[in-house]
Amino acid sequence: MTILGKSASEQAIALENNYGAHNYHPLPVVLNKGEGVYVWDVEGKKYYDFLSAYSAVNQGHCHSKIIDAMTRQSKTLTLTSRAFYNDMLGKFEEYACKYFGFDKLLPMNTGAEAVETALKISRRWGYEKKRIDENNAEIIVCENNFHGRTTTIISFSNDPEARKNFGPYTKGFIKVEYDNLDALEETLKNNKNVVGFLVEPIQGEAGVYVPSDGYLKAAKALCEQYNVLFIADEIQTGIARTGKLLACQHEDVKPDILILGKALSGGAYPVSAVLSNNEIMEVITPGSHGSTFGGNPIAAAVGIAALEVVEEENLAENADKLGNIFREKLNDYIEKSNIVKLVRGKGLLNAIVINDSSESDTAWNICLALRDNGLLAKPTHGNIIRFAPPLVMNEEQLEECISIIIKTLESFE
Ligand SMILES: Cc1ncc(COP(=O)(O)O)c(C=O)c1O
Repeated sequence: MTILGKSASEQAIALENNYGAHNYHPLPVVLNKGEGVYVWDVEGKKYYDFLSAYSAVNQGHCHSKIIDAMTRQSKTLTLTSRAFYNDMLGKFEEYACKYFGFDKLLPMNTGAEAVETALKISRRWGYEKKRIDENNAEIIVCENNFHGRTTTIISFSNDPEARKNFGPYTKGFIKVEYDNLDALEETLKNNKNVVGFLVEPIQGEAGVYVPSDGYLKAAKALCEQYNVLFIADEIQTGIARTGKLLACQHEDVKPDILILGKALSGGAYPVSAVLSNNEIMEVITPGSHGSTFGGNPIAAAVGIAALEVVEEENLAENADKLGNIFREKLNDYIEKSNIVKLVRGKGLLNAIVINDSSESDTAWNICLALRDNGLLAKPTHGNIIRFAPPLVMNEEQLEECISIIIKTLESFE
C-alpha cells in the first residue's frame, strides 16, 4: 500500500528517523507480525528470522503458551510493586530455582539491570563475606565483552562506540584477555581484592567467539582457588541457545552467580534474573536493591511458561542437532568459498566471518541480499554475520534456510 507515494515500509522508517533517537542502525525492513520461526513485513513478505531478537525469541515468535499465560495474567493483576507480595512471584522463583539448580533468584527486567545486580551482589559479598576493605573490590572482566549499556557496564567495555563521551567511568574493573587462563591466573594472583570474574560463556556480540574447550572449567577452578565468584552472563547463551540449557553446562560448570534475560520470557516481555546460593544472595537486604517492575506478576507468569516450553519442546536437543547440521553444511560450502572465511558457534548460536575488512560494507550488503531472499540476519562488528534462528525450527526449515544462505553467498563470490 502506498500513501503520498511512500510505501508502508518507507513511512515507518521515516517516522522512526524523524522522531526516534538514532541509537541503532536497523536493517531496512519493517515487521508487523511474527509466528514461530517466521516474521512478516508490512508489505506482507514472509522471512525466516535468523536473529531471534538477539536470542530472546528462542521459543519462537508469539508462542501460544507464553502469550496465553501473559494474556491471562494481564487480565488479572499486572503490577503490585514489591511493596506488597503477589501470588505469582514466589511460584516463578521456586520454578526457576529448581529448574536451574540454585537456592534463590532476584528478578529484574532487562539484561543490563541483571548484570548490574550481579555486580552489586558480588561487591557486597566481597565486603561482607570475603572481608575486603570498603571501596576496594575489583571485578575481573574480559576484553571484547558485551554486558549491556549502563554507565557502569560501558565503563569496562572496550568498544569505543559504546564508551565515547559517556565518561567519567566507574572504577573497580580489571580487563583480561578472553580465553586466556594465564592472564586470568596472573590477575587473580596479583590482586587480593578481586571479588568476581564476569564472563560470557561464548562472546555473542563480539562475534560469537567460542573459547577453547576446558576454558570455563579451568576458570571456575581458578575462581574457587582464589575465593572469587564465577559470574556467568548467560543472557544470550542461556535457555537452550547453544544446545544445552546453559552454555556453562557444556563443561559441567555451575556458576556462583548466573545472569539470565532475553529468552527467559521467550521475547514476550522484559524478564531477567540473577540466581545464586543462599550464602551469596543473603547479602541483599531490604532497601539495598530493587525495581518497580522487577518480579511483577506478568513477568512471573511469562517466565514460567517460557521455561516450560523449553523443556516440553526439547529445545536444547533441537538446537544441538540443528547447529551441527548448520555448521557441517556451511563448512562444506566454505571449503570452496572466497567470500566466507569460517563458521563458528555452538548449537544455534553461530556466525560466519566474511573475507573482507571489518570496515567494508560486504557483510551489510550480504544481509540486504539475504533479506531480499527471505531471511533476516544482521552483521556484528563489520564483517561478521550472526545466525541465531528461533530454536523451534525444524530440520526441513533449516535446510531451506541453508540453501537461501548459500545461494546468497554465491552471488557475492
Ligand atoms: C551477554 C549479554 N549480556 C547483557 C546484555 C544486555 O541485555 P539487555 O539489552 O536486555 O539490557 C546482552 C544483550 O545483547 C548480552 O548479549
